[in-house]
Amino acid sequence: MNGPLEGRHIVLGVTGSIASYKAAEVTSRLVQEGAVVDVVMTESATQFITPATFRALTQREPYTDMFGAYGVGEAHVELARRAEALLVAPASATTLARLANGLADNVLALTALATTAPVLVAPAMDGQMWEHAATRANVETLRARGVEIVGPASGRLASGRMGAGRLVEPALIVDALKARLGREHGDLTGRHVVITAGGTREAIDPVRYVSNHSSGKQGYGLAEAARDRGARVTLISTAGLPDPGGVTVVRVDSALEMLAAVHEAMRTAQVLVMAAAVADYRPAAAAEQKIKRADMGGELSIPLIENPDISKEVSGEFIKVVFAAETQNLVENAAIKLANKRAALIVANDVSASDAGFGVDTNRVVILDAAGGREDLPLMSKYEVSNRILDRVVALL
Ligand code: PMT
Repeated sequence: MNGPLEGRHIVLGVTGSIASYKAAEVTSRLVQEGAVVDVVMTESATQFITPATFRALTQREPYTDMFGAYGVGEAHVELARRAEALLVAPASATTLARLANGLADNVLALTALATTAPVLVAPAMDGQMWEHAATRANVETLRARGVEIVGPASGRLASGRMGAGRLVEPALIVDALKARLGREHGDLTGRHVVITAGGTREAIDPVRYVSNHSSGKQGYGLAEAARDRGARVTLISTAGLPDPGGVTVVRVDSALEMLAAVHEAMRTAQVLVMAAAVADYRPAAAAEQKIKRADMGGELSIPLIENPDISKEVSGEFIKVVFAAETQNLVENAAIKLANKRAALIVANDVSASDAGFGVDTNRVVILDAAGGREDLPLMSKYEVSNRILDRVVALL
């Protein structure tokens, strides 16, 4: 199955900044995801990184000279026409000023002025320049025009000072681009999708907990797939995986915390996908201090009490998708859970297989629906499984 950037024509503007070298990683990621990338460099950018780097990464000639002969008529007009998105990363203070004021004195600024494609800019500059009233005004002008401002991040700047002005990490810039393209074309645009991920942790004492083997990968795959299809996504997670860009991540530990977060997020959502492995039981009372081995006399019993079933507690007008992690009688057990939880769909996975279920990047699932339908999917990546689930959700919306 094609990824969200497969075959997409992206124009990447690179401007002069100490972070210009990171544009090479942005380019590499875009190319690896199947995008056709034309790089447009300002003259200052060529002081920091050479066109040869981008030529090698894209197998295409970078655009650096507004009077250059690139064999495509007026280069900026052609680029602007072909672009499905214009991404400027890093965007210097000067380039932000150029774009805000409609100046067109280099190929990048000309292309920006000529394109009707969505424009994203990832600023990078010293904190003082970012805070300056002129930059603030330029950013507001661009935002008001629909330009998406990605970052900047805070941290240590090239000057040695701390503050806002760092280029956002390349992976997150690419995620922001996917989210934006999703909102332009996706079938979940305008929808709010809530996804749970990971195994809940039920405290025994301040240092120990009861949990399970869920890594969160299936839930994160769902969050990314929903984002790439244009949804506003809230990911309620216990997992230690890096936050996907373009997704609101709510961190929780226990089933009770997850329940509260799901209740809150579902106020505005149309879809709930419960991919989390929620503990059915929790210790009746978590000890306030670390339990000492010496106090237990060679035996430790922990009374457990039932957790609420999150998928049943939350009700309303939305599409509910639940999962079933089974080690035997996969479809029979899943069908019982589908009815019991009054869900529209249940995604059954056999977690005893080594290439599916917990921890791995692939899954093999059977989707059952409330009307008695059954769809058996072969082994595929968790991102692909997610898209197949979301195809079913879209059909129900
Ligand atoms: O995270 P990974 O490593 O990628 O692994 C993915 C996965 C195996 C965790 C995932 O694909 C999966 O199957 N998730 C559901 C696991 C589970 O808890 O299954 P269950 O059969 O115990 O629960 C059925 C459904 O009820 C689930 O949607 C669960 O989120 C929900 N539930 C369960 C208990 C509870 N107290 N509240 C709930 O909402």
